Amino acid sequence: MCGIVAYIGSKPAYPILINGLKRLEYRGYDSAGIALLDKNISTYKRKGKVSDLEAFVEDKNTNGFIGIGHTRWATHGAPNDVNAHPHVSQHGHFVIIHNGIIENYGRLKKRLEDRGYKFQSETDTEVLSNLIEYIYLKGNVSAEIAVRLALTKVIGAYGLVIMCKDEPDKLIAARKGSPLVIGIGKEEYYLASDATPIVEYTKSVIYLNENDIAIIKKDELSLKSLTNEKLTPEIHTLDLDVDEIEKGGYEHYMLKEIFEQPRSILDTFRGRVVPDMSAIHLGGLLEVLPRLKEAKRIIIIGCGTSWHAGLVGEYLLEDLARIPVEVEYASEFRYRNPIINKDDVIIAISQSGETADTLAAIQLAKENGAMVLGICNVVGSSIPRLTDGGVYTHAGPEIGVASTKAFTAQVTVLTMMAILLGRERNIISDENYKKLILELVSIPEKIEKILTYSAVFEKIAALYKNANNFLYLGRGYFFPVALEGALKLKEISYIHAEGYPAAEMKHGPIALIDEKMPIVVIAAKDKSYEKVVSNIQEVKARKGIVIAIVTEGDTIIKEMADHVLEIPYTHEALGPLLAVIPLQLLSYYIAVMRGCNVDQPRNLAKSVTVE
Ligand code: F6R
Repeated sequence: MCGIVAYIGSKPAYPILINGLKRLEYRGYDSAGIALLDKNISTYKRKGKVSDLEAFVEDKNTNGFIGIGHTRWATHGAPNDVNAHPHVSQHGHFVIIHNGIIENYGRLKKRLEDRGYKFQSETDTEVLSNLIEYIYLKGNVSAEIAVRLALTKVIGAYGLVIMCKDEPDKLIAARKGSPLVIGIGKEEYYLASDATPIVEYTKSVIYLNENDIAIIKKDELSLKSLTNEKLTPEIHTLDLDVDEIEKGGYEHYMLKEIFEQPRSILDTFRGRVVPDMSAIHLGGLLEVLPRLKEAKRIIIIGCGTSWHAGLVGEYLLEDLARIPVEVEYASEFRYRNPIINKDDVIIAISQSGETADTLAAIQLAKENGAMVLGICNVVGSSIPRLTDGGVYTHAGPEIGVASTKAFTAQVTVLTMMAILLGRERNIISDENYKKLILELVSIPEKIEKILTYSAVFEKIAALYKNANNFLYLGRGYFFPVALEGALKLKEISYIHAEGYPAAEMKHGPIALIDEKMPIVVIAAKDKSYEKVVSNIQEVKARKGIVIAIVTEGDTIIKEMADHVLEIPYTHEALGPLLAVIPLQLLSYYIAVMRGCNVDQPRNLAKSVTVE
């Protein structure tokens, strides 16, 4: 949420910043802006997309070897030119970009106003730029000291990069709660909210830790704590290639990411399912396994799609490992005074590893003595660094704002965990253990097959693209898939959609059904199959339009449904990994046909770093 990028070195900064902003645009697209330091600081900012900024800057002076850039997801103040970042302090000494929220900005603003400061924008960031400047001028201190002192007065979250007109040889960066990565080049440094704008220049990076401040000259980096202790930077090598963050010939990132799923699932279990398929090995859980397998209760926390993956995890862990599981929205968990026992294990699920509510819920669980594990996709992000253990999903960068391959990778990890724990707890027999592993290994090929039917999904999308409402129904393992299908449709096509357990339909939603209502029913072969068939009949009796996801060769539902989308047979515990694919494609095609911006749906952003 909000992307920040910066450069200091010997190359012209502008092209690096503008390309970096395009890479980061998925984090927010309400406005974009840059500031370049040449003889003076030039700041350009525009409401809308990075392309709007680019057009605006076309005939302007873009000289300078130092610069900062920002793409915004609005929190404080409307998305307009004035509220766009960078923010310049009142007397022009500082210009800053910020990702996060300054919670006590109201109080700070009042104090600055009492001292003569006037504000142009409604943002919390401008308050910070003026606070730094006030301390700098009043205390007659260096930019570094002014930044440090200002940050000790701030409550909230920030990833910041700051330029000072009077100290034109440096950038100052700081982190608390919002991510910042520094790329190390040859006599140059790159900074960004994540590694995507950096990877084409260098693979050596430093992830700033909480409360770190970096003072960066083109040939020198010094890292300090907020209390001014000198720190030793830890240099990591990025495991990321530029082509992973390109569209690779697809029209949209979302489509690319849907089609990548056979590979991303394979990458997620590769090396973890041992070659003769007789065992599962999850290195990140080795140390915690004794406590995990004795857990009295597992609480899974997450938001949005990750929460849906958590619901699939509940079915998996209770069914295969017989451990009681509760699944909580991270935002609810943290505010409702939850009962957390020392022998509970918390599993936090997050693609970005930066979701503010999930991070806060983890803190709460840790304070209560619970062991916390993470299932995350972004290596080096905050959640994996905060947890006691966990498993990376290896889905590769997910750029489309609507999550697709991250969901199936999360479910793959949860499946491996459930099979492993089931075996460790002697719930699953040797035979079933091997059978489940073999089924898991066959999933990528089965998804390949589903993807070859994409033209069929496209035709159905064309028929229902103008519907005002959709209902998604599923039972058991397929209930969370119904929720996920509905979320995908509403977030990218803006059609109202609800997911329900199929049997709940008759307790209310059935009143909505008429001849205009498409109802997507996940009716693959599992133990509730017959019951779902009855639910389909109930829908048809009310003239609803049934689009059914069925197991290949199903003839019963074919007779009743208006459309059937086939998926190959698999063990019901693995069904969500297959059943979600047609739903992702259906949403994608409907959104494209409605002219929606699928990769950057309105009002949304990836990586929700505000609470
Ligand atoms: C939906 C979607 C969001 C995220 C949610 C959590 O397609 O992408 O609902 O799943 O914001 O994000 P992470 O997984 O990064 O914690």
